[in-house]
Amino acid sequence: MLFLDNSENKFLNLKCNVCLRRQTIYITVRISNDYVSIPGYNHPSLMAAMRKEDNLVQFINRPALAVHPPSDWAERINNALMRVAPAGLNQVQTMACGACSLEHSQKAMFMSYQRKKRGGKPPTQEELKSCLMNKAPGSPDLTVLSFTNAFHGRTMGALALTHSKWIHKLDFPVPEWPVAHFPDLKYPLEDFVRENMEEENKCLEENEVPLMFDEVQTGCGATGKFWAHENFNLPEVPDIVGFSKKMLTGGFYYKDNLRPAEPFRIFNTWVGDPSKLVLLEAVVNVIKGQNLLLNVQVTGDYLLKGLKDLQKHHAEMFLEVLEAVVKDMSK
Ligand SMILES: Cc1ncc(COP(=O)(O)O)c(C=O)c1O
Repeated sequence: MLFLDNSENKFLNLKCNVCLRRQTIYITVRISNDYVSIPGYNHPSLMAAMRKEDNLVQFINRPALAVHPPSDWAERINNALMRVAPAGLNQVQTMACGACSLEHSQKAMFMSYQRKKRGGKPPTQEELKSCLMNKAPGSPDLTVLSFTNAFHGRTMGALALTHSKWIHKLDFPVPEWPVAHFPDLKYPLEDFVRENMEEENKCLEENEVPLMFDEVQTGCGATGKFWAHENFNLPEVPDIVGFSKKMLTGGFYYKDNLRPAEPFRIFNTWVGDPSKLVLLEAVVNVIKGQNLLLNVQVTGDYLLKGLKDLQKHHAEMFLEVLEAVVKDMSK
């Protein structure tokens, strides 16, 4: 998704092979491993982390992290989250769930954009007053561009980017932000290179806007790389990467320039949970120590080859599944 400034009509179009290809990855992940952490929640390493005397306090206490973090919080962030940070993203913010991670990511993008626009000057009195009434200039006309059929969560800001099912959306007022058509690619990709290129080209055009990846579903090794976007050989790193689910804690990585200038701009009571970092550290140790990413690549290739063989010999079976999925999506 990308965010756009309507007030200056810097509009639409996107450079996004990245997102285009993501659909393949997304389908793979849905098949394999939606909610479970990569080593599995009953893995002996996770059990051991739970039982370790030093860790007990992290499970018993739930501090308001942004106000009273535990004294070893920075160390735990480094041992768990920063060891697997996407290249080029030096900052991280924890959150409780996927939707609130994406919601706050959007705020980080908006703030950094407005900060740059002010050129180092503080906000004006008019801005400070008008924002309280949801009016410009304090509440500026900025938007986030999302894709048809996307799902990014159920809170109001995340919902503005969600277009998958009416059950998530009906009865809620949402900002009228732009929605780009997500290309309908034909599979298997290698058999439809020309057709898919034409379809993608309809959506390709470069723009100077921040690029954010929602890796709530795809992050933490499920695609054979720690982050799915690492599969895309991007010319530049994304600006923000949101995560949750298999990472056990919600949150987002972001570039230095997106760091808020003032405290409490990205804030809620918990902003995450230290006990989740205890478990995430154990997860990262297992993934790295047992070379699980390679395992995912090898078994993923094996599974895909098997699926393709099945498709060749039992096409009718796949058609049945596909019809059931399409029916479910249109509900
Ligand atoms: C891609 C994606 N983004 C965001 C979310 C929202 O996460 P949560 O349910 O933790 O708010 C989900 C949840 O299914 C998701 O799959």
